[in-house]
Amino acid sequence: MKEFLEWSIGRLNQAGVDSPRMEAEVLFSGALRVGREEIFLRPERVLTEPEKNLLRSFVERRVLREPVAYILRSKEFWSLNFTITPDVLIPRPETEVLVETLLSQNLKKPSELSFRLLDIGTGSGVIAVVAAQEIHNCQVTATDYFPSVLAVAKLNSERHGVSDRVHFVKSNVFSHLSKALYDCIVSNPPYLKTSNLNDLVPDVIDFEPWSALDGGSDGLGFYKQIIPKALNYLKKGGFIILEIGETQANAVTSLFHSTGHYEKINIVQDYSGYDRVVFARKKTNAYG
Ligand SMILES: C[S@@+](CC[C@H](N)C(=O)[O-])C[C@H]1O[C@@H](n2cnc3c(N)ncnc32)[C@H](O)[C@@H]1O
Repeated sequence: MKEFLEWSIGRLNQAGVDSPRMEAEVLFSGALRVGREEIFLRPERVLTEPEKNLLRSFVERRVLREPVAYILRSKEFWSLNFTITPDVLIPRPETEVLVETLLSQNLKKPSELSFRLLDIGTGSGVIAVVAAQEIHNCQVTATDYFPSVLAVAKLNSERHGVSDRVHFVKSNVFSHLSKALYDCIVSNPPYLKTSNLNDLVPDVIDFEPWSALDGGSDGLGFYKQIIPKALNYLKKGGFIILEIGETQANAVTSLFHSTGHYEKINIVQDYSGYDRVVFARKKTNAYG
């Protein structure tokens, strides 16, 4: 195995892949279904021909810049493993800040009532699944525009034992939602400017779905839809948490202020210090 690992590291290095050793180890661990430590503990392990063929194909796919999460069909989020296919955005660690912001609220309800959460653009279902696991008596409605995306999210809800608590709806933002009143709405919508998409690294732009990235000409298209319309779907005093791009905090908070019906509008930074999440509460005297 050691020789084959060294060949893989060299091949990835030659192709200009960042962190070739780490990536080769992750590909080996995924292909051979062993922990990464096994690679060091049993360097003399003899690889079978099918194992070598699989590893070679994984390395060659990575050389062509296919993300590791698509090659292994798996990505960790909130210390859980999620199934990932090319239909869905690869969940980013920054999105855990949205989940942390959600879980840091007072989410207690009278025992007979469930906490009702709406996740718009659920993708692989990471936010919906973690919320269903972590919040007591939580009922999640998770939407996406694409049936193929919803199929992956559904699989992840089954994989993590929360399929009875997550209800999936194919919807263009709010189009197919009945006006059930939610305690909270969350979304990590597409937020890049269309004109910036071509500047993304090949790993992203050649492999991840554009429909998960493209936020329109100013990147704000989804916020302009979600923020005013969410007032029709939130309970009074209910809250909304949106992931944003690092330069969008002013524009997004202005959209909240301009409705006149939100309060406690706050920006939360990620661990690199970038603005990443906006929180707002629907005023208790708001309409609806
Ligand atoms: C940035 S991804 C977020 C995925 C996931 N929530 C996460 O955080 O990893 C945005 C998601 O919005 C979905 N989407 C795009 N256009 C949509 C629309 N018009 N209505 C609902 N969802 C949409 C995409 O398919 C994608 O899954």
